Amino acid sequence: MSILSYPDRGPWGKSSWRGNCSGFIYKELFERILLNQVDPVFIDPMVGSGTSIDVANELGIRCHGLDLHSGFNALRDSILERTGEPGHLVLSHPPYAGQVVYSSNVWGKEAHPDDLSHCVDDEDFHHKLQLVMLNQREATVPGHYYGTIIGDWRRKGVYTSYQAEVIARMPADELAAVLIKQQHNTTSGRKTYGKMVLPFIEHEYILLFKRKARTVLALLGVMAKQAHQRLQGTWRNVVKLVLMDLGGCAPLQKIYERVAAVTDKVASNPNWQAKVRQTLQLSPEFAARERGVWALA
Ligand SMILES: C[S@@+](CC[C@H](N)C(=O)[O-])C[C@H]1O[C@@H](n2cnc3c(N)ncnc32)[C@H](O)[C@@H]1O
Repeated sequence: MSILSYPDRGPWGKSSWRGNCSGFIYKELFERILLNQVDPVFIDPMVGSGTSIDVANELGIRCHGLDLHSGFNALRDSILERTGEPGHLVLSHPPYAGQVVYSSNVWGKEAHPDDLSHCVDDEDFHHKLQLVMLNQREATVPGHYYGTIIGDWRRKGVYTSYQAEVIARMPADELAAVLIKQQHNTTSGRKTYGKMVLPFIEHEYILLFKRKARTVLALLGVMAKQAHQRLQGTWRNVVKLVLMDLGGCAPLQKIYERVAAVTDKVASNPNWQAKVRQTLQLSPEFAARERGVWALA
């Protein structure tokens, strides 16, 4: 089942810890991923009230629980260096969207600048969480799993998909599973707001990646290719959309005019006309009808 739903959180961790996760979620993941291994190791770099570690201990799984509240900073310290051994599952449950503020609120007197619940904006968060994921990946035995438990968030009508950002910023060929975790007893779920067009978000995601054995340089190569292919694909689709709009065939000048009208991509790319020509020339989706006239192939 790719949908996990546990209304009860069990006896593990602290129910009073805001933003805690049901221990049954960890139990199910450990039973699936770790209990078929010989001497598995579990690592949680953001352990909060310790739910995951309590469950691991109960199941006899060797484990390491770290957190900013006890002197481990996932944005500065290497997880692998701190644990001294890699894990077969390295799973985080970060704070996101400032829903729950940790340092200065749940623990400590002052806001810690590297606390993920104190990010200045979404971009700051996406960037930092990618570092945490890469840190987790480094601490994972090749061929085994790293991942995160994270939700999305809508405020003032704008929906931010934190999980989609994580997936986009990690190597696509390492993504192994996206599970849905139903959230119970959410504050928003308890309120009645009259008739709403779109429902409240009452689920989180469990994103699991399987680490391939590759160097950091090879990883960068994979990520660069991923980003390049996506951008090239967008250019092809933008040019194709313009040609479709122009009836399937048009002179280059008309194509330029339409591209400038339909996309703001041109604003950030001073060589956009050359890019349009290159896209027309290189993609088998387009064919030259006569000099300077292009059509859908
Ligand atoms: C959502 S809570 C984890 C809850 C946990 N799963 C439980 O059931 O209790 C997120 C945790 O991330 C920690 N955290 C935030 N920024 C961090 C950082 N830079 N390094 C390590 N931990 C961090 C917070 O202190 C908080 O305890």
